[in-house]
Amino acid sequence: MRRLDTITGGADRLRIGSWRGDPSVALLSPTPGITPSSSGLARALDELRARGYRSVLTPALTAIEQPPFAAIGFTVHERLHLLGHDLRRVPEPRAPGTRLRRGRQRDITDVLAVDGLAFDRFWRFDAPGLADARTATPHARFRVATVDGRVVGYHVTGRAGTLGYLQRLAVHPDLHGRGIGTALVGDSLDWCRRKGCASVLVNTQEGNRRALRLYEHLGFRTEPTGLAVLELPLDDGPAR
Ligand SMILES: CC(C)(COP(=O)(O)OP(=O)(O)OC[C@H]1O[C@@H](n2cnc3c(N)ncnc32)[C@H](O)[C@@H]1OP(=O)(O)O)[C@@H](O)C(=O)NCCC(=O)NCCS
Repeated sequence: MRRLDTITGGADRLRIGSWRGDPSVALLSPTPGITPSSSGLARALDELRARGYRSVLTPALTAIEQPPFAAIGFTVHERLHLLGHDLRRVPEPRAPGTRLRRGRQRDITDVLAVDGLAFDRFWRFDAPGLADARTATPHARFRVATVDGRVVGYHVTGRAGTLGYLQRLAVHPDLHGRGIGTALVGDSLDWCRRKGCASVLVNTQEGNRRALRLYEHLGFRTEPTGLAVLELPLDDGPAR
């Protein structure tokens, strides 16, 4: 199900694949903790051109991860807020009339349908995108919210050591404002706290006021340095 290939060379370790399955837009991901060299990035771009991609995006990068990409011509596609939670005050993982349960393989179609309604075209998940989110960290929790047996929301939360990551949160637009998002965030934070996390991170688009308000209302604090998705058109020959 995974769609990313790994390019290695020297100390470089970069993953390449399609952005949400789009055959013209590539995703180029550095390995966390490894700063890519300019020659490693140039090699990866050559490979992406050879595969016929027209442009390339990065995942959400921290301020420390961005400079090698900026140095070869990447510019900001979208800025994101990064928020952290200290797990001192965790909301109730409950909403009236809603049940939270483990997400199963047979829920994937319904989960992707909710995701597709909740997010715009650029951000919505396809099946490999959801699989990537669920396997990005050594441990993960995948919970769905149901109303009358129908999947109406979900979260994916990852954990690496004592750091938790709320990777994805979505609620069916017809049911926004009923506390389902709050319950899902409560489940995510409660799981991280039970597993010994010291804090939980989440990111959200700068313009996503509803999600930002929800997270801040539930005790997340915006970190001073945000994240950015970077982009580079691939039509103009090698970026050396
Ligand atoms: C962000 C999102 C998950 C929130 O889900 P939700 O179920 O609407 O969230 P809640 O109902 O718990 O809370 C949303 C608001 O409704 C309010 N609310 C909660 N229960 C309520 C109720 N019974 N009646 C009225 N309002 C209520 C909350 O106080 C909150 O208001 P606030 O934002 O002013 O604080 C949802 O809007 C969504 O799926 N958005 C698109 C995807 C997205 O942005 N995901 C997160 C990006 S990282």
